[in-house]
Amino acid sequence: MRHYQFNACWRSNSPEHVMSVKMAPPLVLVILLMIHGVYGKYWGVSYSPSHICALKGSTVTMSCSFTFPYRYRIKNVFWTKAQVKEDKEEFPDLFEDPEYSQRLQYLGDKQQNCTIRLSHVTQKDEDEYYFRFTTDIPDEKWLGKPGVNLTVTDLQVESPERVTEGDSVRLTCKSSCTLTDRATFIWYRNSQPLTERRDTNNELLLQSVRREDAGRYSCALHGHTYISPDVHLNVMYPPENPVISISPSAEIVEGESVTLICSSDSNPPALNFIWFKENQSSSVGSGQSFSALQSGRFYCEAHNQHGSQRSDAVTVTVHHGTDTNMTVVSKGVFIIITIISLIVTVIIIIIIINGDLNVSTYTALDLKSRSSDLYNTLSSVHPRPAVHQSGSSEYENIHTVRRNNN
Ligand SMILES: *[C@@H]1O[C@H](CO)[C@@H](O)[C@H](O)[C@H]1NC(C)=O
Ligand SMILES: *[C@@H]1O[C@H](CO)[C@@H](O)[C@H](O)[C@H]1NC(C)=O
Repeated sequence: MRHYQFNACWRSNSPEHVMSVKMAPPLVLVILLMIHGVYGKYWGVSYSPSHICALKGSTVTMSCSFTFPYRYRIKNVFWTKAQVKEDKEEFPDLFEDPEYSQRLQYLGDKQQNCTIRLSHVTQKDEDEYYFRFTTDIPDEKWLGKPGVNLTVTDLQVESPERVTEGDSVRLTCKSSCTLTDRATFIWYRNSQPLTERRDTNNELLLQSVRREDAGRYSCALHGHTYISPDVHLNVMYPPENPVISISPSAEIVEGESVTLICSSDSNPPALNFIWFKENQSSSVGSGQSFSALQSGRFYCEAHNQHGSQRSDAVTVTVHHGTDTNMTVVSKGVFIIITIISLIVTVIIIIIIINGDLNVSTYTALDLKSRSSDLYNTLSSVHPRPAVHQSGSSEYENIHTVRRNNN
C-alpha cells in the first residue's frame, strides 16, 4: 500500500513524467504542458481550514477539495483517521465505523469536492482526519496527509468569585481553543438570557456591579444548544437599613426587661452589632439582641467587612409602679378599709350620742359617695414607696380591722 503526500506535488515516480523530462526539447515541453491541460492535474488534497475548533455538540463541516491526474477514474472516496494496530498504522473507512456512520455525511463528489459534515461532536472526536481516494488502477490511491485537526471545546464562565457592590466586573466565556466559526455569545443569568448583551466579544462587562447582578451565570453561542455550566457571582455589600424589633413590648414595668433585636440586609450577613443609647457616647451592648432595663432611646449599628450602618432609634419606657395592677388593688383595699372604718366610727358615734337610727343609716350611705375624697386624703398621707412595697401588710391591716370590728 502506497501513500502519496500532498506536498509531493508531482508523482515523482510516474514513468510518463520521467520520460517527458528526458525528451527535454522546448517543443516537447509545450506539448507536455498541453497534455497537462488534459491529464496534468497533480495528486493532492487540500482542507480549508486545516484546523477546526468546534463547540461540543455542534456540527462540523470539513471543507475539502482534491485533484488527481485526469486519466484515472476515481473508484472510492472516504474519510479516515489514523489507527495504530499492532504497531501498524491503518486507515479504516469512517463511514463503516459505528462511532461515526450515523453522524458523518459526505457532501462532496467523485471529481474534486470531498467535503464532509460531522454532527454532535464530542471531545472523543478530537483527532486528525484525512480524505482518501482510490482509483480504478490498483495501488494508485492517495491519502490527503496532513489532514484536518479537529479540536472540540466546551465553554466555561470565568468570573471573580466574590465582588463588592460598585466594582467593575468582567465575566469571560472561555473556550479551550479559538472557535473557528465566528460566534455570537449569549449570556444567561439564572437561566434567563440577558438579551441586551449579545456580542461577538466573549466578555460580559458589568460596570459598577449591583447586588441584583448576583446570580448564576452561564454562556452559550447563538444557534447552538450547548450551554456552559453555571458560575455563581456573589456580590457583597455593607449592611443596609438595620431595623430593631422589640419583644415583648417597648413599654415595660420596672424589674422586667425588653429584648431588642437588630436585623439588617447585608452580604455577608452582619455578625457584629453594637448598641447605643441616645445622648450616651459609649456603647451599651453588643450582639444581635440587647436587653434594655431602663427607659431611653436605643439604636443599633450593624457591621460586616464592607461597612456599617446604624438603625433608627426605638423608645423603651419603663413604668415605675403607679399605673400597675398591683397599685389598683392597693387603692381598692384602701377604699374598703376607709369605708369600713367610717361605718364603724359612725355606728360608734350613733351609739354614743343615742341618736335616731334612721338618720345615722343615711349618714353612713352618704359617706360612701365621699369615699374618694377621703382616699385622696389618705393617699397623700402615705408616700408612694410605702404603697408599692406593702401588699402583704395591707392584708394584715384588713384582718386587724375585721378583728376590731368583731
Ligand atoms: C463542496 O460541496 C459543498 C456541499 O455541497 C459546498 O458547500 C462547497 O462549496 C463545495 N466546495 C467546493 C470547493 O466546490
Ligand atoms: C494535528 O495534530 C497532530 C497531533 O496532535 C500534529 O502532529 C499535527 O501536526 C497537526 N496537524 C495540523 C495540520 O495542525
